[in-house]
Amino acid sequence: MLNKLVVSVAVAAFLTVGAAVGAIAADKGPAEITLGASGKKPAVFPHAAHQEQGIACAECHHGMAADGKQTPYVDGMAIAKCDSCHNPEKLAGKTLGALKLDTLRGAGHGNCQTCHKAVIAKDSSKDKLMKCATCHSKK
Ligand code: HEC
Ligand code: HEC
Ligand code: HEC
Ligand code: HEC
Repeated sequence: MLNKLVVSVAVAAFLTVGAAVGAIAADKGPAEITLGASGKKPAVFPHAAHQEQGIACAECHHGMAADGKQTPYVDGMAIAKCDSCHNPEKLAGKTLGALKLDTLRGAGHGNCQTCHKAVIAKDSSKDKLMKCATCHSKK
């Protein structure tokens, strides 16, 4: 009886630690990413630096429901590459203002530039964030 109790407490403690480690080890993806690497204007993206600014995963990541509607990011969800959805097959004709969301460019400019503009609106000394070469520094 006592032995059984000791074992179940030990198992519970093990599971708790396991869950905590699992949470810490959640896949944060690569530290540095080049988007559109095979295209005409690759974009450099310091992924880890953005996470370290305290920007929530949900600012950039989301999912898609069976009806084609965007679903919000939830912790632990599988994260797919932007162009696995933002392509002419999956999001044909979808737009955000003048941007075409069925291209990686539209997804990139829609996400990256919207936030960078908002940062500049609060602090004009950061106007470099909207310069083409800040993101498109590689040829
Ligand atoms: C400022 C925007 C931004 C934030 C914040 C952000 N990410 Fe990302 N993440 C991206 C972009 C862009 C990619 C590259 C996607 C691609 O290659 O199409 C990416 C890629 C990834 C990948 C790799 C996906 C793959 O299949 O290559 C993982 C995993 C990931 N992010 C997890 C996270 C987690 C977890 C967080 C929060 C802790 C987070 N990201 C925060 C923009 C962001
Ligand atoms: C699983 C599919 C999927 C993935 C992966 C995905 N998106 Fe989307 N995204 C959507 C859907 C669906 C919409 C809504 C389109 C509509 O109905 O107008 C959307 C809308 C958007 C919009 C416009 C609305 C908004 O939320 O601002 C932007 C910008 C965007 N995505 C950027 C990105 C970026 C950047 C990535 C990669 C980090 C990404 N998306 C990955 C499916 C996806
Ligand atoms: C939700 C807000 C947000 C989003 C989305 C976002 N960024 Fe940023 N980005 C920032 C902030 C904040 C900084 C740091 C600005 C500073 O204080 O210097 C930054 C800095 C950068 C820098 C470094 C600039 C430099 O040389 O100092 C690059 C490059 C960059 N972002 C590219 C991107 C790209 C590419 C994307 C889209 C895949 C993106 N960002 C999406 C907020 C964002
Ligand atoms: C905040 C980051 C950011 C800024 C600033 C930015 N872009 Fe982009 N741009 C991206 C991302 C991300 C993509 C999608 C990935 C790729 O194709 O490089 C992209 C894609 C593109 C593409 C499509 C490339 C292709 O192969 O299909 C063109 C063209 C482009 N951008 C031009 C510009 C020009 C011109 C400017 C300045 C007026 C600019 N961008 C400013 C992030 C940015």
